[in-house]
Amino acid sequence: MKPSSPNVSIFDTAEKLAEAAAHKIVEIARTAFARSGSLSIALSGGNTPRLTYKLLATDGFRDCIPWQEANVFFVDERCVPHDHPDSNYGTIQKDLLSKVGVPSSNVHAIEGEGDPATNASRYENELRTFFSELQWPRFDLVLLGLGADGHTASLFPRTTALNETKHWVTENRVEKLSSARITLTAPAINYASNIIFLVSGDEKAECLAAVFKGPRDPENLPAQLIQPVNGSLIWLVDRPAASQLI
Ligand code: 6PG
Repeated sequence: MKPSSPNVSIFDTAEKLAEAAAHKIVEIARTAFARSGSLSIALSGGNTPRLTYKLLATDGFRDCIPWQEANVFFVDERCVPHDHPDSNYGTIQKDLLSKVGVPSSNVHAIEGEGDPATNASRYENELRTFFSELQWPRFDLVLLGLGADGHTASLFPRTTALNETKHWVTENRVEKLSSARITLTAPAINYASNIIFLVSGDEKAECLAAVFKGPRDPENLPAQLIQPVNGSLIWLVDRPAASQLI
C-alpha cells in the first residue's frame, strides 16, 4: 500500500475511538441496506474492536442496525474450538452477536477445530456460495486490526498467505505463534466496499508510522497489502497509536 494520503482519524482515547467506529459501522450498514436491502460484514478478532462490539450491543446502538437481516463473516480464526477463549467466533458471539439477534443461519463462522486447510477450503466454499457469480467477495464492510509486527487479519510477516492471489481464504502457518491461522486473503479483503482499520495503543505507534511512511515492504508489513480495488479505506486510530505519525 503506502497510501499517499491515507484517510486517518485520530481520537484521544480508546473509548472515543470505539464510539466513532460504532457510528461509522452504523452509517455503512444503513447505506448498504438502503442500496441492496442487505449487509455483509466481516469482523476481526483481537482486543481493539471489543469495545466497539460491546458498544454496538448496547441499548443506544442495538436497534440502529437491523441485525436480523445482516450476514456476519469472520476475517480470520485461530485453530481452536469455538468455546476456547482464543476463538474469534466465541469472543465476537459473546460481545456482540448473542446480544443483537443475528440469526444463527446468518453467522458464517470459520471452523477452528480440525485440519486448517480443510476448514479454509470449506469457508471459501461458503463465501463463494454466498457471493455467487462474483470473482471476489464484495463485503459491505471488512473490519481490520493492526498487530505491532505489521500483520492484519492473519496475514503475518513472511508467511505464505501473503502471496496468495487466487484463493479467498487460506490456512497460514505462523511460526512465531507455533500454530496455523485461517484467514481471508489480501485480495478478498481488497474487493470490499468499505475497509476500516481500528488501531489502538502505543505499542502500535512505530508500526503504524512504518505502514504509512516507510518504504513499501509488505513481506514485513502485511498491512500495506490492504488497498481497496473499488472501495473506501479508513483508519480510526487513538492518540497513543498515532504518536509517531505527526
Ligand atoms: C486476530 C486478528 C488480528 C488482530 C490484530 C490486532 O484474530 O487477532 O484478526 O489481525 O486484528 O492482531 O489485535 P489487537 O486489536 O488485539 O491489537
